[in-house]
Amino acid sequence: MKLTALLQQRASVREYSKRKLTDKLLNSLLESAARTQTMGNLQLYSVVVTRSEEGKEKLAPAHFNQPMVKSCQVVLTICADFNRTTRWCQERNANPGYDNYLSFMNAASDALLYTQTFSCLAEEAGLGVCYLGTTLYNASKICELLQLPKLVVPIATLTVGWPASTPNISDRLPLASFIHQETYKDYSANDINSHYNSRENLPENKHFVEINNKETLAQVFTDIRYTKKDNEAMSESLLECLEQQGFIKDASELEEDFNEVVTRPDVLECDVVRFQNNKEKWVAFVGLRDGRPYEIFTGLMDDDEGILIPKRITKGRIIRALEPDGTKRYDFQFENKRGFKTTVEGLSGKFNKEYWNYAKLISGVLRYRMPLDNVVRLVASLSLENDSINTWKIGVCRALKKYVKDCSVNIPADEEEDAE
Ligand SMILES: Cc1cc2nc3c(=O)[nH]c(=O)nc-3n(C[C@H](O)[C@H](O)[C@H](O)COP(=O)(O)O)c2cc1C
Repeated sequence: MKLTALLQQRASVREYSKRKLTDKLLNSLLESAARTQTMGNLQLYSVVVTRSEEGKEKLAPAHFNQPMVKSCQVVLTICADFNRTTRWCQERNANPGYDNYLSFMNAASDALLYTQTFSCLAEEAGLGVCYLGTTLYNASKICELLQLPKLVVPIATLTVGWPASTPNISDRLPLASFIHQETYKDYSANDINSHYNSRENLPENKHFVEINNKETLAQVFTDIRYTKKDNEAMSESLLECLEQQGFIKDASELEEDFNEVVTRPDVLECDVVRFQNNKEKWVAFVGLRDGRPYEIFTGLMDDDEGILIPKRITKGRIIRALEPDGTKRYDFQFENKRGFKTTVEGLSGKFNKEYWNYAKLISGVLRYRMPLDNVVRLVASLSLENDSINTWKIGVCRALKKYVKDCSVNIPADEEEDAE
């Protein structure tokens, strides 16, 4: 039968006969399903096959004892699996980076594509299947029962067997309810009426509302079947499972990462940005971490005690050193054409004290990762009285703006040429 015709008459099967499902048929379906699309052809899934009565017995409570678990021939637990790919990388001198949420989502979509393809093939072969959404509700329990290692999380369960009866075919919302041409068109009350009325008027759904003592079908879902309270509790346990299986980090690990980011390394690569305002030449040293501004020091370039560095120098390092009395000192180091290093010691001493203090504040904001366009907006909005501190402000904005894509903040000195 053609797939379209098959889909028109398919339905989830919850009652199974005792007829055996052979390994031969099962394996051929499992193999064919692997022809489905998969990210990078990595096949980020694994399937645990439960055939034994003992295995089903153990799994049943994790599926809230839905009867299909024990009455079907085979329970398939389809898992998002980055463990195998990670192991492959480790064995092949490749450095895997798949212990994160994006990788989980990719593996989860692979697992679902596989599950759905298997489901179509099984139904084509005359078998009946039923998804068990309880998989995600009790994922940690299933991990324990099936001994799933890190980077493996159960995503879907299918009960599979030969149907004992012919189930009713359920309705579907009309095409217009879920198709949007070109852009998403949000729903008016009238749209909702026209999309849901026929479903709400089905005798079985009216009956459903009545026996549950509710006013509407939607209330059956919100108050009984999928409640906010249950959803929140199960979301929490699913997040715990993702954490336990290594796909997301727990709060203390995140704190450690954060502490590492805000602890300044002794040496930071930096860009040297020059600018000119009212004929004065200024310089900004923008310390970079992972390519993002992490601190900024700005001051006059040519005052007596100021900073003079060759024009062609646009990059260097800011090195933090400790004075014998324990105070911190920041040095700028650059290399000449032949690779010899020159160090300008004590940047802080060479800049006006007031600029230095402001620089400390802005660097604090940068270090704690405020989005850069907000930092530019913040500095631009400072209301400062005297001319030179205003020049400083404009310089900081100009220097930082270079790192912001499509920055919408208007900086007055933008029209000026950079100092040569
Ligand atoms: C993710 C997912 C989870 C489901 N979980 C359950 C379940 O736990 N128990 C059940 O009886 N049916 C479950 N189903 C089956 C749906 O109820 C069924 O597909 C839907 O009502 C449409 O009916 P049909 O499959 O007969 O067309 C699930 C289906 C999906 C896709």
